[in-house]
Order: sequence, then C-alpha cells, then structure tokens
Amino acid sequence: MPVVLRAEAADGGPSLLLRSWTDSDADALVEAYRDPVLRAWTRLGVPDAEAAAHWVEVQRAGWESGTRLSFAVLEEEPGGGGRLAGNVVLKRPEPAGPAGEVGYWTAAHARGRGVAPRALQVLTDWVFESFAAGGVEYLELMHQVDNTASCRVAEKAGYGFERILPAVPPFPRDGHLHLRWAAGGPVRG
Ligand SMILES: CC(C)(COP(=O)(O)OP(=O)(O)OC[C@H]1O[C@@H](n2cnc3c(N)ncnc32)[C@H](O)[C@@H]1OP(=O)(O)O)[C@@H](O)C(=O)NCCC(=O)NCCS
Repeated sequence: MPVVLRAEAADGGPSLLLRSWTDSDADALVEAYRDPVLRAWTRLGVPDAEAAAHWVEVQRAGWESGTRLSFAVLEEEPGGGGRLAGNVVLKRPEPAGPAGEVGYWTAAHARGRGVAPRALQVLTDWVFESFAAGGVEYLELMHQVDNTASCRVAEKAGYGFERILPAVPPFPRDGHLHLRWAAGGPVRG
C-alpha cells in the first residue's frame, strides 16, 4: 500500500503532499535538475527523460528493498493536483539497523517557503512512528559546511548539530553531522 503523507499549509507556504515517485514525474524532474544550484549540491544529475526514468526506477527499487524510501513533495493546488516542489528521502542501507539517513532538495521555484523543513518534519514523524518497532533510534543528516541553507533546514526540523565530518572523496569540504533521536533518546546536558 503506497504511503501518502501531508503537511499543513504554514508560514505563507502551501500544504504539501508527499507520495512515492512515479513515471509521470519525469518531465518535472528533468526541469528541476536544470537548476545549477540543485546540480551543485546533489551528486546525481538527471539531464533527460531517460535519466529521469532510471532515477524513478531506482526510487521504486529502494521502496521494494526498504533501503531507500523517497517521496516526491508536491505543493497542493486549490483545484486539486499539485506541482512538484521537492524530494525527501530516508536511506537505510541496513534496514534492520538502529540508524537512518535523511536527504532532501527543493525545486528552485519553491525555495524560501519552508518546503524542505516541513517535508522533513513530516517524514521524520512518520519514520519514528512507523519504524519504532523495527528499531530506528536516530536519524542522521549530513551537509557540506558551506551549505548554509541545508544547515537551516536541519535546525528547523529539529536535527541538532553533532559534529564536524572531515572531507572525504567525493566530498571536497568538511561537513556537518546533525542528529535527531526518537522520543526517549539520549538527553543532552
Ligand atoms: C537547502 C534547500 C533544500 C532548502 O530548501 P527550502 O525549501 O528553500 O527551505 P527553507 O525555505 O526553509 O529555506 C532554508 C534557507 O534557504 C535560504 N533561502 C531562503 N530563501 C531562499 C531562496 N528563495 N532561494 C534559495 N535559498 C533561500 C535561507 O538561508 C533559508 O534559511 P532561513 O529560513 O533561515 O532564511 C534548498 O535550498 C535546496 O534544494 N538546495 C539545493 C539542494 C541541497 O542543498 N540539498 C541539501 C543537500 S545536504
């Protein structure tokens, strides 16, 4: 049964609908990846329809294996339907392990309206609710030190700064590790 999540409209931004990626998203995905900022901060390019179809297939396979649970984030429109605004993903290379990693991007046209932090908050709540019995204890969020917009998303979605990560190929600069613990996780003094 496909998972569909929602975030209420807030802070001047529209309500958001999160659902799994489909082939019908290919054109909007290619359009989003024309943005040089998105290409600069994410490792994969999606230059054309063929690459988009492959990307969607990777997301579908991720849901099947439980290792990559990604959601297309749509800005809901008054008459129904929605415009692609971004992506949020939970990565669990070891689906039985205690940790997961989150990632996100927002299409250029939708930035600056809290889309990523709101979508991330909804994803985080869903993960801790759905996978508590499966043992997810904490979620990691990593970004390069100079990605200040991403650092703000982490802070707004309640992912506390944990430590600096040294630069390791393919990442040319140091990074930040942020963490968010499930309810009942360690209390920081
Ligand atoms: C980082 C990113 C996901 C933020 O998404 P968003 O939906 O715009 O999030 P917000 O609206 O909360 O804005 C976050 C910060 O972006 C910056 N920002 C604000 N308006 C902006 C705009 N119109 N365009 C670009 N950045 C803007 C601000 O620093 C803002 O922080 P503030 O709220 O303290 O002012 C988005 O900029 C993006 O997709 N960047 C490229 C991909 C990327 O970096 N992904 C994360 C990899 S770790």
